[in-house]
Amino acid sequence: MRQRLVMGNWKMHGSLPENKALLDKVAAAAGGLNRAIAAVCVPYPYLAQAQSALAGSKAAWGGQNVSHYPKGAFTGEVSAGMLREFGCRYAIVGHSERRQLFGEDDATIALKAGAVLAEGMVPVICVGETLAERERGITEEVVGRQLNVVADRIGPEGLKASVLAYEPVWAIGTGKTATPDQAQAVHAYVRGVLAGRDKGIAATMPILYGGSVKAANAAELFGMQDVDGGLVGGASLVAEEFLAICRAAEG
Ligand code: 13P
Repeated sequence: MRQRLVMGNWKMHGSLPENKALLDKVAAAAGGLNRAIAAVCVPYPYLAQAQSALAGSKAAWGGQNVSHYPKGAFTGEVSAGMLREFGCRYAIVGHSERRQLFGEDDATIALKAGAVLAEGMVPVICVGETLAERERGITEEVVGRQLNVVADRIGPEGLKASVLAYEPVWAIGTGKTATPDQAQAVHAYVRGVLAGRDKGIAATMPILYGGSVKAANAAELFGMQDVDGGLVGGASLVAEEFLAICRAAEG
């Protein structure tokens, strides 16, 4: 049975008091999960807070981005080693907001995944097409390219230690969710690309769906054969919503 994972991506949201209330509820509820892991990826300044609130619980935490450099004169960057010092298990790489708003390309994202792996953490590698790309019928081409550039760089050993997330850009923060069939079709394609490299990795790789996941649609999405959990934006900021999504991944 593949690992199930529900990961909150807080993006640039939060404050110390709001975070405390949310993290305490996640810590308490994570203990009740058996099949699914609950994790939160918080803004860098809140990593210490997440670490102290979640340490000793079954919940995990991580960064939303990472530098591809290990150290040096790179103003504003945060290294994978720094994330590890704060107990991170995960780091998101290649989120579409990084690709689109901050100009990150496939090659840089591949280096970031490698940097995360080099510190013994799990990169959550995001892929996904824009609406224009979907309408042009090139979803598979785009997603396949995004995945293959990273896979070529990190190799089978790296892939084995990674998590993938399919996030159609048109479904992020729009309230417009991919239908379970649309999500399943791309997840199956992604698993097929992995199988072309290594059947064992394809069989065990958790592939998360992201894009307007909420309590009301999570069970249906997670019921699809190749959907192994969710990468959750807006709904991860509301404890009851996020925890309901985590419970939906237990099914
Ligand atoms: P929303 O759940 O807010 O659509 O965001 C999805 C996302 O980008 C998670 O990384």
